[in-house]
Formats: sequence, C-alpha cells, structure tokens
Amino acid sequence: MIDRVAILGATGDLTRRSLLPAIATLLSQGQLPASFSITAVGRRDWTVNQYLDWVRSRGAAVDAGGDGWPMLAGRLQYRAADVTDATQLRAALAPRDGPLVVYLALPPSTSVAASAAISAAALPEGSRIVLEKPFGQGLASARELNGLLHRAFPEEAVYRIDHFLHKQTVQNILGLRFANRILEPVWNRDHVERIDIIWDETIGLEGRAGYYDQAGALIDMVQNHLLQLLCLVAMEAPASVSPRDLRDRKVELLRAVRAFTDADVMARTRRARYGAGRSDHQPAIAYGDEPGVDPARGTETYAEVEIAIDNWRWSDVPVVLRTGKALAHNRREIAVQFRRVPHLAFPETDPARNDLRLTLDPDTIRLGLNVNGPSDPFDVVRIELDAQLAKQAIPAYGRLLLGVLAGDPTFSIRDDEAEEAWRVIEPIRRAWSRNVIPMVEYPAGSDGPFGLHTDELPISPRRSM
Ligand code: BG6
Repeated sequence: MIDRVAILGATGDLTRRSLLPAIATLLSQGQLPASFSITAVGRRDWTVNQYLDWVRSRGAAVDAGGDGWPMLAGRLQYRAADVTDATQLRAALAPRDGPLVVYLALPPSTSVAASAAISAAALPEGSRIVLEKPFGQGLASARELNGLLHRAFPEEAVYRIDHFLHKQTVQNILGLRFANRILEPVWNRDHVERIDIIWDETIGLEGRAGYYDQAGALIDMVQNHLLQLLCLVAMEAPASVSPRDLRDRKVELLRAVRAFTDADVMARTRRARYGAGRSDHQPAIAYGDEPGVDPARGTETYAEVEIAIDNWRWSDVPVVLRTGKALAHNRREIAVQFRRVPHLAFPETDPARNDLRLTLDPDTIRLGLNVNGPSDPFDVVRIELDAQLAKQAIPAYGRLLLGVLAGDPTFSIRDDEAEEAWRVIEPIRRAWSRNVIPMVEYPAGSDGPFGLHTDELPISPRRSM
C-alpha cells in the first residue's frame, strides 16, 4: 500500500468537505499504515496551522472525520504552489524517495494543465494519479487528457474517480443482480417496463458557483454518476468482478446507448433551473442570483434524459436519468418497474405493477408485490418487502482512497469508459447550448419543474416528454 498522498487543490471545497474527513475517518479506524502522510498543495501562502484552521472552520467536515482529526493534523504538511508549474510542483512534492498518490481535486479546466505539469515533473516509479469527475470537458478533451496521462503513467496507475461507485448500495447492485437466481431471468425487456435512476437533492449551489456554473446538472451528475449507475443496472453479467471483466461490461453497455440526435434531444430530454423559493422554511434565492453565477450562461440545475439502449436485453425499455437541486425532497433511488402480468384472474382488480427500488442514503431495497387482500380473497393488495442495509462503516471517499492506495482499480473509470460517457452526453449538451429545448424554471424548495417529486408516488408515471 502506498503511504503518501499529495492533494492538489487542497484549498478547494472537495478537499475540505470530502477528502480530509474521509482520511480522518480512515486514520481513526486504523485503516492506514503508521507511516501514512499527506501533502496538501494549495495556492494560498499559508502555514500548516493556518491551513488546518481553515479546514476546521467548517464544523461539518470535522464532525464527519470523527476523532481522526488530531491524527490527521500530525501527518499533514501544507505546501503553497502553482500546480500547473512543473518546477513548483516538483519542489512541493519533495522528498521524492518513493511512490506517491497524487490526487487532483481540481476543476477540469485546471486538471489538464496540472496533468501536464505532473508528467513533466516525473514522479517516482510506481506513483499513481487520481482525477475527479468530470474527466475532461468533452469527448475531444477527454481523449487529449488520456493521451497526456498515458505519456507519464500506465493506464493501471490512472484512477478516474466517481465516488458513487464506492457507495454501498451502488456496489450492492452487483450482488443483488448476480448472486441471486430470481432476478436475472426477469431483468430484460420481456419483463421490465421502465427504469428510473433518480438523484433529487434538497441542497442548492452551496457556494460552488466557480465549478457548477460551468458544469450544470448534466455534466455534474448525469455524465458520470448517473451513467455509472446505469452501467451497473443494465450491463450484462461479468464473468468475474476483476477490474477488466467488470469494466469491459460497463463500457459495452455504454456503447449500446443510442446516440442523441437533435430530434431525440427534443423528445427525450428536459432541463430547468431553480428560481427564488423557500428552503428549510427560509426564503431561498434564485440560482441566477447566487454569488458567482453568470445568469446569461443558462446553466441548468435540473436535467432529465431518457436513454435508449440498443441491444437485445433492453430494446424499447426507457431508462430515465434525472437529477435536480433545490427540490423539496431528497429522493435518491433506482426504480425498476416490471410489466403487468399477462393475464389477470381477478376481474375486479387492477393491481399495481411489481417494482424493485434501491434507495440510497438511507440504503434500502424494496420489492413491491401483490397478494390477496385480508377480507375479500379475490381482492389484491400491494405489499412491500423491505430491507434496510447496515450503514456503511467507511464513507465512499474513504473506500475510494483505500482502493487507490492498494492499487485496486475495480471501481475507477477506465480510459475508454470516460470517452464513451462523453459520446453519450456531448450531443445533448451541444443541443442544449443551441436552445433546442426550453429552460423551464421551478421555485427552490418545490416539487420540481414537472411535479414528479411526490413521495407517495411509487414511481414516476410514464409520460410523454
Ligand atoms: C457530487 C456533485 O459529485 O455529488 C454534487 O458534484 C452532488 O453536486 C454530490 O451533490 C452528491 O453526492 P453525495 O455523495 O455528496 O450525496
């Protein structure tokens, strides 16, 4: 296991909010070697104590890290450097006496220049590089970035991160699908009517305009996290969960996603952004008025995309990927809705269709079934078999760091996978930038632009978009 991590972008939101708390948790759990150390590299000219004060000034991060903070403080050094300058970077990453993990917690625009500087700085043999999503800014730029990285690192040393793949319920999709006899035979177009992959959030921008206003919901969530969920839900069974077998299956699925034409974008996508409203019973400002946002840019905070998969298993089964910010409810789930039974022997009833729902945070698996009613034996009522999964002991960012330090790329994104994801999403982004569909507005804290966020709804009804 590599015992040294350098974080570039150490004064960014991701480092403070996710990476350092995860490292603190791992330290408190004794998961890291005694020699483990962290070099935090940021632009600001700070001492290590000033840096730690800044990190701690955000209570929530410290809470998330538990009692690992004093341990983290003892192993961290802070270096000020321009991470796009190879000479400064080389100095910041000294001493250079063993392999290290360089974690780029940087926006995509800076990642390219930083990757070039890292390549020029020539890291010690055996070092690994970690890049946050989104990987590149489009298909051409992802290809270019892959080429740049491969000049300095073999593919096995490049970790393109999607922290969703390290969430427990997400990994459970594999066990659920491929360690049970009863699901796989019905996991296809003959039995499944539609699939919804939903990530609705109550949080708004949370001060991330610098990054989010360039990305929007489509690039922030759909291009990576939701497409990754789609891969696990819809791919063919892998022969093993080795990094190669698993990622071969995922990329094969992405290749089967039909390319979007402008007509598809009009028929099968929707976008919106939040206006002024209320959140937590407090007035909430419109996205366009958030500090740092350029309202003229037309960034969406809600995206909905209906994917068509052209293969035998999923032909004509709509898969809707949907995400939004500043909504009334957190709803994070994968919902698989099955078709009606071919013939119903109970003439007076119209039973609900079976569905299987995986919710994330809290992590549950819920299967909707029909049984006979308690009074009239010919009545049919819906029941739910419900399992609550144990809370994951290591946060997603902790699991992903352990994977990188141990050299396990199973849940990182391979070069071809990153490019294929852009192939799917780029035509939508281009069409949206030409306004081929309107931008709808919804009040912050509401049920969203299309009113689909009612908790009582077992699943979004089929609708024409
Ligand atoms: C991040 C997105 O990758 O994932 C955020 O940038 C989003 O916009 C977040 O809120 C959701 O994941 P989690 O694990 O923080 O709930």
